[in-house]
Amino acid sequence: LRRGAGAPDLAGRRVVVSAGGTREFLDPVRFLGNRSSGRQGYALARTAAARGAKVTLIAANTALPDPAGVDVVRVVSTRDLQEAVFAAGADADAVVMAAAPADFRPAEYADSKIKKTDDVSAPVVSLVQNPDILAGLVRRRREAGDGPVIVGFAAETGDATGSVLEHGHAKLARKGCDLLVVNDVSGGKAFESTENAAVVLADDGTSTTVPQGPKEALADVVWDLVVRRLAR
Ligand code: CTP
Ligand code: CA
Repeated sequence: LRRGAGAPDLAGRRVVVSAGGTREFLDPVRFLGNRSSGRQGYALARTAAARGAKVTLIAANTALPDPAGVDVVRVVSTRDLQEAVFAAGADADAVVMAAAPADFRPAEYADSKIKKTDDVSAPVVSLVQNPDILAGLVRRRREAGDGPVIVGFAAETGDATGSVLEHGHAKLARKGCDLLVVNDVSGGKAFESTENAAVVLADDGTSTTVPQGPKEALADVVWDLVVRRLAR
């Protein structure tokens, strides 16, 4: 069995990859955002296309060239991303959520630019929670009794409540997806980088360690694991 780069083992498959970081606007000029560049998602889209898949890349605020042979859908907010992922994921064989959706958005949007009114006071921004897209995909699949392989990403830092891997295992169980790619982002590692290291946790208890290397190498390991699941 030939695996990894060059093998057409995703031929005839439809896959959806989300990439980048969503933005939640406060007013026409300001937003809450995050540090996701979209590089890992683009690497997943490129490698899936190279392996023969029909790929839809849902890109949130990325500044990267469109990968050749991939359908690119552009979105801004977490709710836009949810709509696009749910639509494209409806008849997909796999959905990989490499995007970093903002967990919260401002409770209110100001139609015109928020102005300073004096020299000292500042507005208080109230936030509300955004939908959890990954959890929603898992719910939809459970309700339908059938659906795509679902892959999540988790950028974690170790803290007083647990290590990076402990947080990863807890998140995999909480989200109910099939695979969770766990990154250690302590000190800002991985952001804006072309390299990544990760541990891919599977719901069957297995884990695959991917050493520091190009984001394409991690992407190929993810597709290897997806291909194996699709063959079950
Ligand atoms: N995710 C999602 N919808 C959200 C937030 C996250 O689909 N509103 C997806 C991400 O794309 C990722 C996975 O869920 O694949 C894990 O994201 P993460 O931010 O680590 O999970 P959260 O449940 O938001 O937990 P945390 O409090 O650690 O941010
Ligand atoms: Ca989050």
